[in-house]
Amino acid sequence: MNLVLLGGSLRPASLNTRLLRHLDREIQARGHQTQAFYGDALRWPLYEDDLTPPEGALRLAEALRGAQGLVIVSPEYNAGIPGHLKNAVDWLSTLSPSPWKDLPVLLCAASPGAFGGSRGMLSWRATLANMGALAVPQALPIPHADQNLGEDGTPKDERTAAFVPSVIADYIAFCGRLAHNV
Ligand SMILES: Cc1cc2nc3c(=O)[nH]c(=O)nc-3n(C[C@H](O)[C@H](O)[C@H](O)COP(=O)(O)O)c2cc1C
Repeated sequence: MNLVLLGGSLRPASLNTRLLRHLDREIQARGHQTQAFYGDALRWPLYEDDLTPPEGALRLAEALRGAQGLVIVSPEYNAGIPGHLKNAVDWLSTLSPSPWKDLPVLLCAASPGAFGGSRGMLSWRATLANMGALAVPQALPIPHADQNLGEDGTPKDERTAAFVPSVIADYIAFCGRLAHNV
């Protein structure tokens, strides 16, 4: 299958980018193709309806149209979606055909806090539903990610090390069921 990963923050030391890159390796190790969009690849102008869509938006939309799933790895800012990621979503929502429709999405987040970015996922669920994407019920919040993720995003504690591969395996199986029942 083809899967897209989207997220991280604009910080070079982003915990979410670390997690995203780890998940990318996990998915590839299971024999799937991936395309990842994070960091500077998401530095786009703020949405404005008389601007031409940025090249990056067209590239991401094309990747999503050819994908069987999307893994979002999003920081939580003030219990919601960080501005640069919401901006990316808004740009993509203006393109046709919609890159979001019927796309199964796994929500992931890393935070130094105790809730692992799970409150921000509520905002993501509302936004994704509005676009016709399908956020799967299971999610992957990583609390205390500053302690629980290594420099390359590899889980350091026992709970995270068991949780990550199990959520990824379930999600890939779900995408496979959808893809093969078309
Ligand atoms: C503007 C702002 C708002 C934040 N709000 C939250 C929040 O609501 N919940 C939370 O768990 N962490 C919050 N944080 C802390 C981030 O989770 C933390 O900075 C995290 O490391 C950001 O992700 P990154 O490492 O990928 O950049 C906030 C950080 C910033 C800069």
